[in-house]
Amino acid sequence: MMKRRSLFLLLSAVVVQACSTSTPQQTTTQAPAVDTVAAAPLDEIGRMLADMTIEEKVGQMTQVTIDLILQDNSTTAIDPVKLRRAILEKKVGSILNVKGHAYTAEQWYTILTAIQDVAVKESRSRIPVIYGIDAIHGANYIEGSTLFPHNIGMSASRNPELVRQAAKITAAETRAVGIPWNFDPVLDIGRQPLWPRFEETFGEDVYLVKTMGSAAIRGYEEDGLESNTAVASCMKHFLGYSLPATGKDRTPSYIPETMLREYVLPPFKAAVEAGASTVMINSGEVNGVPVHGSKYYLTDILRGELGFEGVAVSDWEDVIRLHTRHRIAATPKEAVRIAVEAGLDMSMVPVDYSFYDLLVELVKEGTISEERIDLSVRRILELKRKLGLFENAYPNRELAAQLRLADYDSTAYQAALETLTLLKNDNNVLPLAKNTKVLVAGPTANNLGSLHGSWSYIWQGTDETQYPERAKTALQAIIDKVGKNNVVSRVTNDFAAAANYDAAQLKRDARGVGAIILFLGEKAYAESPGVIDDLTLDANQLALARAAAETGKPVVLVLLEGRPRVISSIEPNMSAVLMAYRPSTYGGPAIADVLFGDYNPNGVLSFTYPRNTGDVVLYDYKGTERIREDVPNTYGDAGFNPQWTFGHGLSYTTFQFSDLTVNKQSLNMSENVEVQVRVRNTGNRAGKKAVELYSFDQYASVTPSARRLRAFTKVSLAPGEEQVVNFTLTPQDLAFINQQGEWVTEPGAFDLMVGDQKTTINYVQ
Ligand code: BGC
Repeated sequence: MMKRRSLFLLLSAVVVQACSTSTPQQTTTQAPAVDTVAAAPLDEIGRMLADMTIEEKVGQMTQVTIDLILQDNSTTAIDPVKLRRAILEKKVGSILNVKGHAYTAEQWYTILTAIQDVAVKESRSRIPVIYGIDAIHGANYIEGSTLFPHNIGMSASRNPELVRQAAKITAAETRAVGIPWNFDPVLDIGRQPLWPRFEETFGEDVYLVKTMGSAAIRGYEEDGLESNTAVASCMKHFLGYSLPATGKDRTPSYIPETMLREYVLPPFKAAVEAGASTVMINSGEVNGVPVHGSKYYLTDILRGELGFEGVAVSDWEDVIRLHTRHRIAATPKEAVRIAVEAGLDMSMVPVDYSFYDLLVELVKEGTISEERIDLSVRRILELKRKLGLFENAYPNRELAAQLRLADYDSTAYQAALETLTLLKNDNNVLPLAKNTKVLVAGPTANNLGSLHGSWSYIWQGTDETQYPERAKTALQAIIDKVGKNNVVSRVTNDFAAAANYDAAQLKRDARGVGAIILFLGEKAYAESPGVIDDLTLDANQLALARAAAETGKPVVLVLLEGRPRVISSIEPNMSAVLMAYRPSTYGGPAIADVLFGDYNPNGVLSFTYPRNTGDVVLYDYKGTERIREDVPNTYGDAGFNPQWTFGHGLSYTTFQFSDLTVNKQSLNMSENVEVQVRVRNTGNRAGKKAVELYSFDQYASVTPSARRLRAFTKVSLAPGEEQVVNFTLTPQDLAFINQQGEWVTEPGAFDLMVGDQKTTINYVQ
């Protein structure tokens, strides 16, 4: 029976359009409404604004890359003439990035001191510069810093506390060199595995992304922005960047309002509630409208619905691209007008001063009002004030004591361990005995780039010389663990070297060994250079796997990759498969610990691993994705047929769930339901287990998903030990976006599932 729609209007603002792909009113040529904040009495910021020229105000809204202030032939030496041009002539308020390599703390001190010297001692306004950086999985642009696994692995840990700790460490290191603004976390949902930034996401489930993303925000900001251990976070990329129809980076997304509101927006809403100070805008276009030019997204939703009061910065070059790429602006000046009127506060221009020049013109000629730019400048100055930059803009060398602490390493190691996900383990081939002679082969075995992925000391992560000495490749870590004499290997650290793909040699080398550990996957890449046309793993790697299987030795496949590359043609011949993602600095030792039994794996997938490239169906599929009318009917009603599903992950011990109970079978809108389940370690090793609560809405006015993750936790159990896990579910937890674009929980039956346990509750009005 169809349930009546009712109840929860969880969003305060009115949602403009019904569902479907219809595009709401998006751009405007009118000046945006001026926020009342701008008309506030003359507080500290108000006084500053009153004293600022139009040029100074527009300069605050301008962010440029460090290249513009460096000597042409240097990666770190400031050119004083260029620096003065940026800060005194163009009045630039923000600078970002590194050139060519990660900088030492000393280099950062020198650079930031030179910048602030000009800003606070020579400029008329005395306003300090805010420096921003991408510290995506650790302070990746500080030489020698500890890097954590990328988000796609962090979310497999199902341990938000680890995410929070990693963010805290990243904040402490970043702030220690004088940088107060971090362009992280990525809150884009990972539902398009071709997308080259998949590894930066927390996976395909909105509840997981929301939970992990807010944990990261708290880690960055909870000490208070003025603290030496915090940074301003930047939720990104608002909105819909990760869902390009083609899978190619920065190509169009088509997102119906229902999906936008149910899957794409909630992580940003949660991040705002967690205290995110800034937001970066999606470079792409959604439903034909570039987000940088959309008042609907940047003002109506971001400010109106989410109530976000912080700074909205563009992504790289994205204002001018409204003209050069998206072609919604006939001139660069029109592009600036559209972006500012849409609601942008700061333009990451970043390679010239066009934004500054054009916006000054637009304000002076009256096309854009000074009230409008005051609104953005106020937000920017407020951020600088909260960060304590007006009191002290300079880096503090004493904070060097916050760099490279031993417990950063132990947290990174623990994180790597908890991310590793055992996907297959036929006949308990793993763990291997430490005296097993092993052949270590494959292009990712001895390559630090594959282990770390994007944003690792350089943007692309591909420079093997920049990794710190303590970062060990998987091969080195295996040798450290079991000794040189137990390891046969010829793999080089060059991912592409022909020697790493020599199948005939592999067969010869396998003769005397007890097992082959085959490391496949992807080299490091970031953003567009990581675009692929085919999810299938490269043919030369598949050939290597076939050769390994032909030896008749057990083959343990370890995957170091940022997205699920299809391996269905070789998987049946692999005895075990370990998904390692991008585990970073301590990934090598963590992998060796799992392979040789010093650590019991407990990661579970944050995405559905596809079996076939043309069959990317996610775990929360709809009924018609399972019951298919294929002719011939290949799948019958088993249309959901991935290689491994979301939530899958094995252990060296076994767990049993029992006694799933609820404290009430029926609940109304003002009640919660308490859910309990017993979980027992029935094997003979201690282990951790992710416990996940899913719901299934039996009938709904918008087709229900097969399962939706509603809550999770992780328990640690000794052999024979058991624990009762409690979850509280609210009616809002069972809500979805209906055809009118509203959050509703419809009356009717909901199945609740944990492991193999199931019970049913009824929601009544
Ligand atoms: C990326 C952003 C990043 C920015 C600054 C862009 O290319 O899309 O995620 O923050 O560069 O480095």
